[in-house]
Amino acid sequence: VYPDRAKTEAMLEESTGMFLELLDARRAEPKDDLLTAMVLAEDEGRFLSDDEIISNLHLLNFVGHETTDGQIGNSMLALLRNPDQLQLLRERPDLMRSAVDEFIRYDPSGAWAHIQFATEDFEINGQQLHAGERIAFCLASAHRDPEAYQNPDKFDITRNPEKNISFGIGAHYCIGAALARLELAVVFERLLARYPRLELAGEVTYRPNAFIRGPLTLDVDLGIA
Ligand code: HEM
Repeated sequence: VYPDRAKTEAMLEESTGMFLELLDARRAEPKDDLLTAMVLAEDEGRFLSDDEIISNLHLLNFVGHETTDGQIGNSMLALLRNPDQLQLLRERPDLMRSAVDEFIRYDPSGAWAHIQFATEDFEINGQQLHAGERIAFCLASAHRDPEAYQNPDKFDITRNPEKNISFGIGAHYCIGAALARLELAVVFERLLARYPRLELAGEVTYRPNAFIRGPLTLDVDLGIA
């Protein structure tokens, strides 16, 4: 996620050490939490190995944080660049649910679905694909499809976008979708209640990550002296 690879690797190593300590602690003293559930998960006498648990913990840590974090930034930016919609949300807090779906449609942090592999040769839009080739689906692009949405480039918090596929579809549907929606609603309810004036205060810079999109810096004038 971050440009400094050595730093990223050191952070991964440190968090792996922390996870291993936590696993030992839960084995010694089970608690009512996700880690204990993973330690105790059993299928026909087989338990998850430490490697399996740790790779899932890294996945959850990463996708549970970077996505929502990026989405808060993308949503903030959409509101700041569309002051009429920001004002409307202040006046109509009942629109929050539709606004959250529109945040995720208009500028999703999960801009791409997982890479898929073609299981057979096929042609799509004049493009020949062969079995075994990798395919990346750009969900962000699907959300700007004029056949799916009227005026798709307009940010409209009253839209109630029903065909939102920002959390994927099918077997790999995002397990954190309900949590992410809740987090976004709480963040914007609190922000709008706390700051009666919010304005963009500079250029936005983006994280160097093609798969999870979100600002690295987003300067906001909170209207307080
Ligand atoms: C706004 C926030 C989020 C967005 C936009 C988002 C988006 C996505 C997308 C597009 C996928 C892939 C679907 C596919 O390839 O078919 C996905 C999968 C996943 N998401 Fe999220 N996500 C968000 C928040 C979260 C949170 C908060 C968690 C966990 C607490 C989470 C956990 C996961 C996991 C574990 C998967 C993989 C599911 C699987 O492969 O079976 N996500 N998410």
